[in-house]
Amino acid sequence: MTSSNVSIKLVRTIPSGSPALEDFVVEAVDTPSESSLEPNQVLIRSLYFSCDPYFRGRLSGTKDSYVSSFIPGNPLEGRGIGTVEASTSPKFIKGDMVTSAAFKWEKYFISSDGALTKIPSNTAGISPADYLGVLGMPSFTAYVGLVFLCKAQPGETILVSAASGAVGQMVVQLAKARGLRVIGAAGSDDKVDFVKSLGADVVFNYKTCGSLQETVKKAAPQGIDIYFDNVGGELLDVALSSMRFFGRIAACGMISQYNATPETAYHIKNLGNIVTKKVTIYGYIISDYFDKPVYKEFIDEVSSKFKKGDIQYRLDEVFGIENAPQALLDLFEGKNFGKRVVKVSDVNGTL
Ligand SMILES: NC(=O)c1ccc[n+]([C@@H]2O[C@H](COP(=O)([O-])OP(=O)(O)OC[C@H]3O[C@@H](n4cnc5c(N)ncnc54)[C@H](OP(=O)(O)O)[C@@H]3O)[C@@H](O)[C@H]2O)c1
Repeated sequence: MTSSNVSIKLVRTIPSGSPALEDFVVEAVDTPSESSLEPNQVLIRSLYFSCDPYFRGRLSGTKDSYVSSFIPGNPLEGRGIGTVEASTSPKFIKGDMVTSAAFKWEKYFISSDGALTKIPSNTAGISPADYLGVLGMPSFTAYVGLVFLCKAQPGETILVSAASGAVGQMVVQLAKARGLRVIGAAGSDDKVDFVKSLGADVVFNYKTCGSLQETVKKAAPQGIDIYFDNVGGELLDVALSSMRFFGRIAACGMISQYNATPETAYHIKNLGNIVTKKVTIYGYIISDYFDKPVYKEFIDEVSSKFKKGDIQYRLDEVFGIENAPQALLDLFEGKNFGKRVVKVSDVNGTL
């Protein structure tokens, strides 16, 4: 055992309100040794952690969710990329690059081999972090919501919230490629410029635009066919009031409400339009779709377009495992710009 390992642990659950840095601890822990591996286990050195908004639910302590809550005193866990340092599994050898949805937020940790998937380690033009972004869960979430559930059609108008983010930037590009008119909402002028550069037709800064209702009305005088909802709250309300007949909503996420308290939660007023405009709302969780044929469709389309340079994807890397708690908290204040990942170490072992 050595003491060069680092673990990011939860201190307490946070049922509502905003989590703070003090709710996490960065702790030096022992590095698991090769000799401590049981059969079919793998010792992993973490390269990247994915920071995702769904962590907020896992911090809450709730038992009533599709994913388990983090336990105080235990390390956080989520999607990650790592390299195999040692293995007792016939499926993996030292040097393999692997991913899973259950990476412990530790520099070194032991995983069972069943949880892991091997990924190519040296494909030209693709970095390890791309498997957490453009070729990973957030992009697939965009694809399922837009293409598989809402069945986007050429000529339709779509509104996308958090349009510069991990999911949103892919929604914008997939929608443009399918001939939709794309309206994006983002939280800073830099983000607005970025979303425009992806091809969106109209993009507004929802923090400075004034009336959201007027802004959406001006951008889509005939109304919107699809609302890709990443934020919930007031923009969802405005979208509901702006839907065209037979409109569809991809209820992907509602980040504006994740830190809400009973006092600050936004109450939707325009639910009646679901009836009068015959709107369909698709709630979905992406983990239900990785074993469906749509996953291969997504990989085929997006990996070939990305390799050809027909898809842009903005990663937002934070360096150092000790900065992982802040990197996560930033998501809920819009301080990320693109897909937020934490770089823990380099493939060659530096950092
Ligand atoms: N259903 C699923 O399976 C699934 C899978 C992945 C993600 N999601 C959901 O998709 C949404 C986007 O996730 P992501 O990974 O792409 O995150 P992201 O957009 O990369 O980062 C979060 C962004 O949300 C915006 N935001 C934060 N607080 C906000 C607030 N109070 N009001 C309005 N906007 C706020 C910020 O962008 P601005 O600066 O532009 O405000 C921030 O940058 C989240 O709701 C997430 O939970 C769902």
